[in-house]
Amino acid sequence: MRIVKTVAEMQSVCRELRMRGSVLGFVPTMGALHEGHLSLVQRARSECDIVVASIFVNPLQFAPGEDFAKYPRPFEEDCRLLEVERVDVLFAPDAAEMNPNGSVTTVTVSEVGDRLDGASRPGHFTGVATVVAKLFHVVGAARAYFGQKDAAQLAVLRRMVRDLNFDVELVGCAIVRDGDGLALSSRNKYLSALEREQALVLYRTLLRLERMITGGERQSITLLRAGMEALSAEVGIRVDYLAIVAATTLLPVTSVETGTLVAVAAYVGNTRLIDNFLVA
Ligand code: PAJ
Repeated sequence: MRIVKTVAEMQSVCRELRMRGSVLGFVPTMGALHEGHLSLVQRARSECDIVVASIFVNPLQFAPGEDFAKYPRPFEEDCRLLEVERVDVLFAPDAAEMNPNGSVTTVTVSEVGDRLDGASRPGHFTGVATVVAKLFHVVGAARAYFGQKDAAQLAVLRRMVRDLNFDVELVGCAIVRDGDGLALSSRNKYLSALEREQALVLYRTLLRLERMITGGERQSITLLRAGMEALSAEVGIRVDYLAIVAATTLLPVTSVETGTLVAVAAYVGNTRLIDNFLVA
């Protein structure tokens, strides 16, 4: 695996690969890799000639007071995992390389970027869209792989790609979970044993709603009431949102249909966790 630290070298490496006719698949990450990230790499490996990954803890998407400083950065271990998955090129720039002094241009996806996590974390999706736009320009991949785990992020990036004519196909990949159902997240490392137990209420709640929907319940208001009741059974958590929305616009819907997004975010201790499912 070739590790590249500068934008200029990465652009020339990727340009060269494209000129040879290779289809590039790109997996952007912030590192602290787990099986969720690796599932994206595996999908890219199975569909593309060349797999490019990036590791960059993007300061623009963290608000003051969030966990930027303590975000885990096990770089050596991450490299080992990516080698095992046969990644060809890893882009791992430092902050000065990615955001040189004097950068004043950002990408804001209005409306959709202000909903769900965008409502709770103002500016977050501008940080995400800006860095992903830059990474797309550096890599020039034909396909880019994102987890359905971050459903709002995927909606925002799909909209950015459409609105700004990015020549890249976004591939959404299923949520990878631990054996007990907890969605894998780099932030699960922050949880104490007790919090890890408490966090399971997110998945339990989603399962309950999925069963109600399979059983014929369509009304969002009924589902949201049942969901809030399930969440309130766990006193150790603080709900940020429980939402039933259209997956592309993130606007609330009154009744669910195939493809509707049911999403939850909650604080377990100081750790903010998210989870969701798409109605089958
Ligand atoms: P990060 O949180 O490191 O996630 C990188 C990718 O892995 C995202 O597309 C995310 O949705 C996916 N992912 C995380 N957990 C997953 C799980 N349990 N199952 C499936 N996929 C999972 O998302 C980001 O980084 C950043 O915002 C980024 C896009 C890199 C921009 O900085």
